Amino acid sequence: MAIERIVDTSSHEEDNDELQIEVTLRPQLFSEYVGQERLKRNLKLAIDAAKKRDEPIDHVLLYGPPGLGKTTMATVIANEMGKSIRVTAGPAIERAGDLASILTNLADGDILFIDEIHRLSRAVEEVLYSAMEDFKLDIVIGKGPAARSVRLDLPKFTVIGATTRTGALAAPLRDRFGHIHRLEFYTPQEIEKIIHRAATILEREIHPEALRSLSTRARLTPRIANRLLKRVRDYADVNGDGIIDHVTTGHALELLEIDELGLDPADRNLLESIIDNYGNNPVGLTTIAALTGDEATTIEDFYEPYLLQLGFIERTPRGRRVTMKAYRHLGRATPEIE
Ligand SMILES: Nc1ncnc2c1ncn2[C@@H]1O[C@H](COP(=O)(O)OP(=O)(O)OP(=O)(O)O)[C@@H](O)[C@H]1O
Ligand SMILES: [Mg+2]
Repeated sequence: MAIERIVDTSSHEEDNDELQIEVTLRPQLFSEYVGQERLKRNLKLAIDAAKKRDEPIDHVLLYGPPGLGKTTMATVIANEMGKSIRVTAGPAIERAGDLASILTNLADGDILFIDEIHRLSRAVEEVLYSAMEDFKLDIVIGKGPAARSVRLDLPKFTVIGATTRTGALAAPLRDRFGHIHRLEFYTPQEIEKIIHRAATILEREIHPEALRSLSTRARLTPRIANRLLKRVRDYADVNGDGIIDHVTTGHALELLEIDELGLDPADRNLLESIIDNYGNNPVGLTTIAALTGDEATTIEDFYEPYLLQLGFIERTPRGRRVTMKAYRHLGRATPEIE
């Protein structure tokens, strides 16, 4: 489907406006990073200890659904350590040589952020293992009989890897991370705080009821919270006096067809097509993908996490099932036997 989803958790990086908003609103320090308390506690401890010993912190792997703050946390860690961060992504490092040139350009204590780390090629992964483990780089110089292998010392650096799917990460690579953390969905209260903070940065007045109704529609995800706020702000500018109150928010959200739980037409369509074709019998992922015309990975990364969190879908050994809770939300008659 080519339609643009407001509640799609992926970053619409091609959208300049959106990119700019993400950068402006991105927390820089722990004190600005709302929620994820357990993660912050653990990382603060690790950072304090590392600073005391004047060493880099152990490698960190952050995983969880899109838009929950993985990239943001990587930036925060670098800032809190007072070190530079070099940002790259799995698909961008094509050959082992690309990784070698990144690694040899790092300075002691630098952070190397690798987004979508599950998409590294096998050859690159192998170079990364030894680099992460003993800060050495094995490279082959020359070709044929004259080829020889050399071992280079690398600066002591920290890898922060981010992925939406840890299952796709090779076990040996996973094992190289000292800290492995899952980012959780935010509570509605935390989302309110995030929207309030964003409104303040954007120099906007937002009424409490507007704040509440946005926070329940943001799919417990900061990226969507910020995106909704921006849409409502635009609406308030065009159709009102720029103040974000209950009425403006209601109108703007209606226009976006987002219901009170943050579901949009695409989510409802997904649930409805399963119900219409399979009732509440288990359905496989590829069947769901065929029903909606999306890629299976899109379903897994972008639709499912929130629907699972809401308890609208459950995973069974035989596939995904739509729950009675979803039937009720959609106003559908529930089948006789669950
Ligand atoms: N804890 C937080 N407090 C306040 N704002 C946050 C927080 N986490 C994320 N945000 C906001 O949400 C936006 C999206 O977060 P971020 O880019 O870090 O998500 P991500 O997990 O890296 O997503 P992806 O998997 O798509 O890369 C950020 O620009 C930031 O403004
Ligand atoms: Mg990211």
